[in-house]
Amino acid sequence: MNYGKFAAKQIENIRRIVGKATAVSALSGGVDSTVTTVLGHRAIGKQLKVIFLDDGLMREGEPQAVKSSLRKIGIDVKVVNVQKRFFAALKGLTDPEEKRKAFRETFYRTFQKAVKATRAPFLLQGTIAPDIIETKGGVKTQHNVLEQIGIDTKKGYSFTAIEPLKTLYKPGVREVGKVLRLPESMHQRMPFPGPGLLCRCLGEATPERIAIVRKACRIAEEETLRFKPFQTFGVLLADRATGLTDDKKRAFGHIVALRCVHSRNAMTAKAARLPWAVLERVRDRMLKEIPGVTKVVYDLTGKPPSTIEYI
Ligand code: XMP
Repeated sequence: MNYGKFAAKQIENIRRIVGKATAVSALSGGVDSTVTTVLGHRAIGKQLKVIFLDDGLMREGEPQAVKSSLRKIGIDVKVVNVQKRFFAALKGLTDPEEKRKAFRETFYRTFQKAVKATRAPFLLQGTIAPDIIETKGGVKTQHNVLEQIGIDTKKGYSFTAIEPLKTLYKPGVREVGKVLRLPESMHQRMPFPGPGLLCRCLGEATPERIAIVRKACRIAEEETLRFKPFQTFGVLLADRATGLTDDKKRAFGHIVALRCVHSRNAMTAKAARLPWAVLERVRDRMLKEIPGVTKVVYDLTGKPPSTIEYI
């Protein structure tokens, strides 16, 4: 595959479809949506409005970091705080697919508002091939795959989605990022799912429980990113486990898991063989830095039979 040609073709395509109109890009800060946004910006420049929805499900410091890294390559990002709306939509939900559906609906409703405000008839999205395959195959409902499951975005949501990367897998997306001359920190960035920390929070996703996942993810990244995994993150399980407080009293606390996998394209994955000392350090930090945690486990399951994320 000639990625230079691929990028040029997609840029031309976006330019042709959007014409003199405007488009909105749904930037999440991940590789897919960043590459999509840059393709859009190269195609139509200022006609592209880039919006980052701060849904409260992002990693630590992410909205600010994304805004400043895009600014460095000449793209302005509007950060919109919609945290309350997402947590209200997720309130009381524990079923994984119900959570995903609530996320997706809120995502599109919120976006529809933002898109309507800009009067842009087009929405640029970073959907890639595995998102479509897994949604069609019934493995899970990805938040960003609508038309493939028979939802007419134009009818239901009043805009047309443009998905320039939908034929690519992750390594291909990174290659497009390279030919677009994005900094390595952008095109080699660890994948992060659209529904964010929601995918790593079993049970109800309250602001308090998501804050636990956020801390666990930070510790996972700080301690294991140097082993160059495909993804590494922390997970909050739905149940609790008995433990002991510092003064030897019984505690019934949170169970947090470390998920650290090697993979080529996210379709299959293997747990990373991390040094025992690293696992111990992750355990110690999670117990010490996240209040209320009584148990830390390392997930050894591959994909299949497991998926990489937890919902
Ligand atoms: P799973 O958990 O299905 O994940 O093995 C495969 C890859 O996809 C990411 N992922 C998502 N990305 N929206 C996204 O943009 C989603 O709804 C979603 N769900 C999973 C996951 O992080 C992994 O890289």
